[in-house]
Amino acid sequence: LRLFSGTSNPTLASEVAHYLGMELGKIKCKRFADGEIYVQVQESIRGCDVFLIQPTCPPVNDHLMELLITIDACRRASARSITAVIPYYGYARADRKVQGRESIAAKLTANLITEAGADRVLAIDLHSGQCVGYFDIPVDHVYGETVILDYLASKRIATGDLVVVSPDVGGVARARAFAKKLNDAPLAIVDKRRSAHNVSEVMNLIGDVRGKVAVLVDDMIDTAGTITNAAKVLAKEGAREVYACATHAVFSPPAVERLSSGVFQEVIVTNTIPVAPENIFPQLTILSVA
Ligand code: R5P
Repeated sequence: LRLFSGTSNPTLASEVAHYLGMELGKIKCKRFADGEIYVQVQESIRGCDVFLIQPTCPPVNDHLMELLITIDACRRASARSITAVIPYYGYARADRKVQGRESIAAKLTANLITEAGADRVLAIDLHSGQCVGYFDIPVDHVYGETVILDYLASKRIATGDLVVVSPDVGGVARARAFAKKLNDAPLAIVDKRRSAHNVSEVMNLIGDVRGKVAVLVDDMIDTAGTITNAAKVLAKEGAREVYACATHAVFSPPAVERLSSGVFQEVIVTNTIPVAPENIFPQLTILSVA
């Protein structure tokens, strides 16, 4: 078994290597003057089972292309099997046609990864279940909620005080599963509408949050419009405290400004995507999925 890291999240890859008591394999990755990517595996992997850790986080296109080129390099170096470990899968939200003449980029990306030579994929919180079916190779789909739930349990919030909230209708199944693991905490749902890409508006709140500790659960925080708008409604409807929990900290501007504006007691994310030092704020907790 050989473990390699791409350039998108070397800290997470080192933590995984440490956990396994292994060294990361040597790989050379550089850019040519025109932006093209060069990858060379710097040790023999002939006949080895290769695990390659490379979340396709921003800049998504660069990290995706690097993943494809690295898989190709491993295949041409006669690896026995290649598992692409993609803790954050970019383009996962492009998982269906919402309007006519759109692409389903999540499927296209799955085709590219398979075509490059991956035998298996390990991914965390793939936005929607259908992304698993986009691959014709086995996918191990695991959930960041495992580490988030352990952390929340350590806070010892009384079950009767809790309400788990989905910030949109699409996340209800995820929030329901989360609530079940918090001793069947009650569920509330925010009815979000999007008027444009990256713009969210809250229409209604379904459920009772008055006097409760509200725990918002989502797969990712991108611009933080969804989760912040939901938090504002929860505060208006009388929630005592609001926590935000999400596996993937995409944090596109103005996410940090929104998240640190005082609406949240705490924002809990994982390290599937590295958070830049300038994006760390006092209410932020980053848990490791290593
Ligand atoms: C949407 O379906 C996702 O689960 C997230 O709620 C959304 O992508 C978050 O985006 P933003 O933080 O930009 O509102």
